[in-house]
Amino acid sequence: MSTRRANGKFRSQEWFDNPNNPGMTALYIERYLNQEYTREELQGDRPIIGIAQTGSDLTPCNKIHVFLMDRIKAGIRDAGGIPMEFPVHPIQETGKRPTAALDRNLAYLGLVEVLHGYPIDGVVLTTGCDKTTPAMLMGAVTVDLPAITLNGGPMLDGWWNGSLAGSGSVVWESRRLLAKGDIDYDEFMARVCASAPSLGHCNTMGTASTMNAMAEALGMCLPGNSAIPAPFRERMAMAYQTGKRCVEMVFEDLKPSDILSRKSFENAIVVNSAIGGSTNAPPHLQAIARHAGIKLDVSDWQEIGYDVPLLVNMQPAGEFLGEAFFRAGGVPAVMGELNAAGRIHTDAMTASGKHVGDTLKGWRSRDERVIKTYLNPMREKAGFMVLSGNLFDSALMKTSVISAEFRARFLSAPGSENIFRAKAIVFDGPDDYHQRINDPELQIDEKSILFIRGVGCVGYPGSAEVVNMLPPDALVQSGIDHLPTVGDGRQSGTSESPSILNASPESVVGGGLAFLKTGDPIELDLNRCTLNACVSKEDWEKRKADWQPPELRHQTPWQELYRKHVGQLANGGCLEFATAYHRVARDLPVD
Ligand code: FES
Ligand code: MG
Repeated sequence: MSTRRANGKFRSQEWFDNPNNPGMTALYIERYLNQEYTREELQGDRPIIGIAQTGSDLTPCNKIHVFLMDRIKAGIRDAGGIPMEFPVHPIQETGKRPTAALDRNLAYLGLVEVLHGYPIDGVVLTTGCDKTTPAMLMGAVTVDLPAITLNGGPMLDGWWNGSLAGSGSVVWESRRLLAKGDIDYDEFMARVCASAPSLGHCNTMGTASTMNAMAEALGMCLPGNSAIPAPFRERMAMAYQTGKRCVEMVFEDLKPSDILSRKSFENAIVVNSAIGGSTNAPPHLQAIARHAGIKLDVSDWQEIGYDVPLLVNMQPAGEFLGEAFFRAGGVPAVMGELNAAGRIHTDAMTASGKHVGDTLKGWRSRDERVIKTYLNPMREKAGFMVLSGNLFDSALMKTSVISAEFRARFLSAPGSENIFRAKAIVFDGPDDYHQRINDPELQIDEKSILFIRGVGCVGYPGSAEVVNMLPPDALVQSGIDHLPTVGDGRQSGTSESPSILNASPESVVGGGLAFLKTGDPIELDLNRCTLNACVSKEDWEKRKADWQPPELRHQTPWQELYRKHVGQLANGGCLEFATAYHRVARDLPVD
């Protein structure tokens, strides 16, 4: 079915140019003439291009889009379209309580409603901060109007005392220095603020840069879009080109359902490993795939992505930040290197109208210190391991951030390579962790494994980024920077902790973590991809039978609605009922 209706008119003309219903047409059009548009524009053969604005004072990570808007609109007009900007519910990763993850699905719902209910023929989706990208893509695939993403780009590189200070990463490092007494509160603040020197989103390969790289790997933006730093002139040019391209996509009737396929998602998984991408990518990609009606499973991350090497030398897995990544070629260079090794499906479609193989022609790394080649990578096997056992059906482990020191300390004892035995220390949520982590009675030592539960989608609600727990101060002071951590929440994409996270099902819905007790012996076996509490079957069954689900306290109506309908992280943390809606702009029946 074409973006044009059977009568040859654009969808928006059902509102603005319907001579069979002059009353409604007049009502629709008079209020839009009241601003910058004329009848000639609204009733001509010109598509209306929505611009989903995710930037605002409340979402500083995306605020660059407020300043890019002129360039996007210029591109749309020069290509013959009519731009109409509209606001998106703000999702700012660090500012939103209890967590921005709660609002991804709310922004998604809002976008679907706008795109379905207003006279829009195509849409430019502005992206940046972590959840803004998946929320926009989830909405676009549900509605299935021609859609293209425009990233705002990362901030310039941060510097502190002559060293790079990367978003988030500097926080984890400074937390350790503060715990050791090496820096004071004021220096802590100064170090962290130095990591944010300009407009833009996080400049590390955290969730923001990861999700924008995912949008590019999926083919949902113009090639090269994701890595351009926010203040660079190339960013303004990309805004213009993206606006222009969106109009062309409407004329070509190129929709998300024409671009996205199983192959696009496989490309994205491979790229995620190569960039050392965030552990938040699996739930977000899962959500986009489910709303698009494409089959993807958490196990695909290990099957497709685990053996892919780490090519990008960028914090938190490496040393550089966004500017160097851009100059080295960004995502097209990474995909060019992967393609040279035969790891990319070249026949996947992209928003440019070309197949991936054609967009990558001539692209290789421009700086091998920053983007390595496939044969000379930063690290082998950089993908996620998918673990299972009696504590959960699935949880992810990002092995690319396991340091040599950590591996030597925990995983390389003679005769027990890749097997780690420890005792469990269990915390019920972040408040419990902060209150008790330094309690000597817990007897946390270097052979302990820290668990946090009650922080999944239903429990928190929204799922909290808290699994990368710092060891007690005394251990940090003795040089133990990391203990293995496990939880049913998430962790920041900027964290370098080798955590086991996104455990599904979560504890508050009766997942195995609910039955764990402090002191239980734990076995982590990376050869078999298992994590188990070594507790007798009888004891475990008794704990299960005695378990009472905790009472959940909602703070807002949305929290209550969300908890009623949300699924687990392994399934994308979607509003389950919403995944049945596809192509709603075409008014096709719900399947
Ligand atoms: Fe918004 Fe990192 S906090 S991009
Ligand atoms: Mg985050």
